[in-house]
Amino acid sequence: MTNKYMYFVANWKMYGNLSSLNTLDKVIKFSKSKEIKGGRLIYCPPDTLISSFATKFENCQIGIGGQNCHESKDYGAHTGYVNCRMLKNIGAHFVIIGHSENREKGENDKLINLKIKSALEAKLKVIFCIGETLSEKRKKKTYSILSKQIKIGLNNIKNKSNIFLAYEPVWAIGSGIIPKSNDLLKTVEFIKSKFIGKIPKVLYGGSVNPQNINNLKKINNIDGFLIGGASQNTNKFIDIVKKTYS
Ligand code: PGA
Repeated sequence: MTNKYMYFVANWKMYGNLSSLNTLDKVIKFSKSKEIKGGRLIYCPPDTLISSFATKFENCQIGIGGQNCHESKDYGAHTGYVNCRMLKNIGAHFVIIGHSENREKGENDKLINLKIKSALEAKLKVIFCIGETLSEKRKKKTYSILSKQIKIGLNNIKNKSNIFLAYEPVWAIGSGIIPKSNDLLKTVEFIKSKFIGKIPKVLYGGSVNPQNINNLKKINNIDGFLIGGASQNTNKFIDIVKKTYS
């Protein structure tokens, strides 16, 4: 059993609409109860719902984040995009950057670096996703890929105190498969070894659910979880937090 602060980030991806707000009552009640223990909850809904979530969470400690942003801190002619100032303005405190679903669409480490810089400038905390693909894992390139993502993604960023890393092996996302405990322990240790001084929090993401959380919670260098599919079901999300502390 752990007593430490752990972060539980709900990544709703492109799911949810105004009727989803009703499902949050339970989680609000849970966040105000003693059962929450050291759990810190953060919801990253689609941009269309950030403002409504901010109103809904007004009197509780649940954080809110965007799922991506444009790299420019300035307003401009970028049809279809939202920047970090806009996210901050409607109530976000966090933003996910570098998710593999966006890397797959062409976001590279340099672009991710610009996005992280603009998020920090807008005073948002960053959930910076890194992770190897299945073919990279098979070629035993996991550590070199993670090193490159960290090196370029955080290039010229001195103050990393508002950055969380989320290790999400691409092959684990939405697949129901999670890494072997020992591999995960070592990979998180490797990620942390890349930093000197204040070590950023490292979250794990990829198929976290109420069944496998009992194994995942034993990996004691993990500081929390980035949860996709299971977070869209409030009962499952709460169950994951409760089991982490039981
Ligand atoms: P998953 O997604 O929990 O559905 O695997 C995690 C993520 O993509 O952040």
